[in-house]
Amino acid sequence: MASSSFSILFTTILLATLVVSTLANFDNEFDITFGDGRARVLNNGQDLTLSLDKYSGSGFRSKNEYLFGKIDMQIKLVPGNSAGSVTTYYLSSMGSAHDEIDFEFLGNVTGQPYTLHTNVFAQGKGNREQQFHLWFDPTEDFHTYSILWNPQRIVFSVDGIPIREFKNMESKGVSFPKDQPMRVYSSLWNADDWATQGGRVKADWSQAPFTASFKAYKAEACVWASGTSSCGSVPSATSGSGWLNQELDSASVERMNWVHKNYMIYNYCADVQRFPQGLPAECANTS
Ligand SMILES: *[C@@H]1O[C@H](CO)[C@@H](O)[C@H](O)[C@H]1NC(C)=O
Repeated sequence: MASSSFSILFTTILLATLVVSTLANFDNEFDITFGDGRARVLNNGQDLTLSLDKYSGSGFRSKNEYLFGKIDMQIKLVPGNSAGSVTTYYLSSMGSAHDEIDFEFLGNVTGQPYTLHTNVFAQGKGNREQQFHLWFDPTEDFHTYSILWNPQRIVFSVDGIPIREFKNMESKGVSFPKDQPMRVYSSLWNADDWATQGGRVKADWSQAPFTASFKAYKAEACVWASGTSSCGSVPSATSGSGWLNQELDSASVERMNWVHKNYMIYNYCADVQRFPQGLPAECANTS
């Protein structure tokens, strides 16, 4: 009796440990990059908050560099009047001809929607903005924001719904991020000169500090160390169906089209005035 209940208890503890360890600990995975105490790791590394006041914002970045991966973060954005604030969550390499994959959340006055701004830089070239409103209030609860980055495509998703796909079109002469390792970054900062309603609405510092919360970071990724990328610890990377080869199935494409039709507010590929010499080559094939 005693020994069997012990073994059940032991098994339960072991399972609980395994489940928890699939979610990363903020203390182990990240370094605070700026903010002088405004970035705080809480609950034994399970949660992290960033805050912004009139004097400074705050930020963090992953200790690891990755070359390809699938990363998830749950974020709850600054509630109430978040005008002028920008919360970022992105991958970026170092140096001048850098690669970058961006989620940026532009705050708004109370009751008006956040704008989710996305961009992709390859070899230092960006200018690939797509912007969205969300189909929920991102300040009321945590939602999962994901970046799938493999050699064929980059997919941005919100709660598992793809909102944007950037395909590898090197065959058409378009650079694709695939040679430079990137870190995960996040920050909360003041951009009230441009962020909200084109910069017309400024931050209301009487409401500060503004706070955004992060949890449940998960990276299934190839870690870059001393010049090589190691996917060895990622079982799904080596099998044919894993994220390293993942593409959008027809149901996912349908859901992405639903987002584009109902929630996309800006698409550089539709901005002919901006590109009088013709739309960028990668726009030929995108919806
Ligand atoms: C803020 O709200 C206005 C009015 O609804 C909207 O046009 C705009 O896209 C929203 N987002 C930002 C960042 O201004």
